[in-house]
Amino acid sequence: MNRTNPKKFRVKSFGCQMNVYDGERMSEMLVDQGMSNADEGEDADLVVLNTCHIREKAAEKVYSDIGRLRGKDGKSPMIAVAGCVAQAEGKEISRRAPSVDIVVGPQAYHRLPELIDRAKSGKKALDTDMPANSKFDVLPGRKKQARPTAFLTVQEGCDKFCTYCVVPYTRGAEISRPWSDLIAEAQALVDGGVKEITLLGQNVNAWSSNDDTGKKQGLDGLIRRLNEIDGLERIRYTTSHANDMTDALIAAHGDVPKLMPYLHLPVQSGSDPILKAMNRSHSAEEYLKILRRIRDVRPDIAISGDFIVGFPGETDADFEETLSVVREANYAQAYSFKYSPRPGTPAAVMENQIPPEVTNERLQRLQALLNEQQYDFNKQALGRQTDILLERNGKLDGQLVGKTPWLQSVHIIAPELAIGDMVDVTIESAGPNSLQGKLTQREAA
Ligand code: SAH
Ligand code: SF4
Ligand code: F3S
Repeated sequence: MNRTNPKKFRVKSFGCQMNVYDGERMSEMLVDQGMSNADEGEDADLVVLNTCHIREKAAEKVYSDIGRLRGKDGKSPMIAVAGCVAQAEGKEISRRAPSVDIVVGPQAYHRLPELIDRAKSGKKALDTDMPANSKFDVLPGRKKQARPTAFLTVQEGCDKFCTYCVVPYTRGAEISRPWSDLIAEAQALVDGGVKEITLLGQNVNAWSSNDDTGKKQGLDGLIRRLNEIDGLERIRYTTSHANDMTDALIAAHGDVPKLMPYLHLPVQSGSDPILKAMNRSHSAEEYLKILRRIRDVRPDIAISGDFIVGFPGETDADFEETLSVVREANYAQAYSFKYSPRPGTPAAVMENQIPPEVTNERLQRLQALLNEQQYDFNKQALGRQTDILLERNGKLDGQLVGKTPWLQSVHIIAPELAIGDMVDVTIESAGPNSLQGKLTQREAA
């Protein structure tokens, strides 16, 4: 371990896909600086913990991880804390965890090389500035990718200020990356072997920019433009907010061939008073209406969502409303969380915080329903023929795992195939979390 002149690094990302994207950009930048990725099991001289602040558990994890980095000889690698905990807790991190050398926020990580130089000379380095839109101008171009799927952050930050959420504070105000930068980055990813791109943003469907002709475009326009890139086969986007689900974006689901039939559209609660207290600024019925409209143009679309249970003031009746929205929405997949009070957010100081045993019981009931819906959705795939994009090796010999257009994992045994292949399979069995298939036999001509 060489903490005074680090050569081998490891970036560990937690939290959302935007952190995964940031982690990849940091890795590419460190490689550009002449460092190299530590192999599995190999000691790293520099460890970047790219952290998440969304719930208390996620935020506390960083401190246990730092403790674990200390070797048997009591020595640690150079440690950089990046991501949303770095932004939210800044100096406090160095106080609580003196072995941390660098603290760098999500809008400042392009300065990591300078911060590393500072840390080499034994000084602590902290940078949680939010310079307007500059990191993307400075980061090196995209490299050849190891995987056939990639994330592409198009929009960052959030102006919605849901009363429970830290993101507007950790990621700052909403900004959209410019049209031409995104087309260039998408093209570079495809040139580097990528077949599927997922456009990312905390409010991805609020993205907008002028195109090359000066015309204002929304996310639908960007998707239509990316649809023209040869070699790109699939386009996805996440996470959307109901208020920014425009007619044009809904229409794109009906007629853009490469746009996959999957929509992650969180509602958080099915109760209007709770939605109001959360500052979601839409009703449960408005949300359901969007789902009906999108199913009109794309009947097979897989709907996914996020839920928070036990928000302050949530009554049994409010929770029943959530269950009834879930029944009507009929999710293919969803995430549900216990409400976690976050420092500095308005909900943390609201009255009527819900006791944990009530929240736990509600979460169990909600998850039972969501799991049942997910299993039902998977069972509908039985016997179906579909294309899958092979993303990784499975645990068994000759096994590969790919994704359907609806984002379900499919395991197949096909030693003759490789990661990155797009193949046609027939689904033979369906479990609660994944499917199994076999290569579809082509009929002799
Ligand atoms: N921008 C996205 C989601 C960002 S955070 C959106 O608006 O939907 C991802 C999810 O974490 C949220 O959808 C919400 O369900 C959950 N979440 C956010 N803050 C939380 C909190 N304080 N407690 C529990 N869950 C929370
Ligand atoms: Fe958080 Fe709400 Fe913004 Fe999503 S829309 S990031 S939940 S404040
Ligand atoms: Fe977490 Fe920050 Fe993403 S708080 S969910 S890593 S935007």
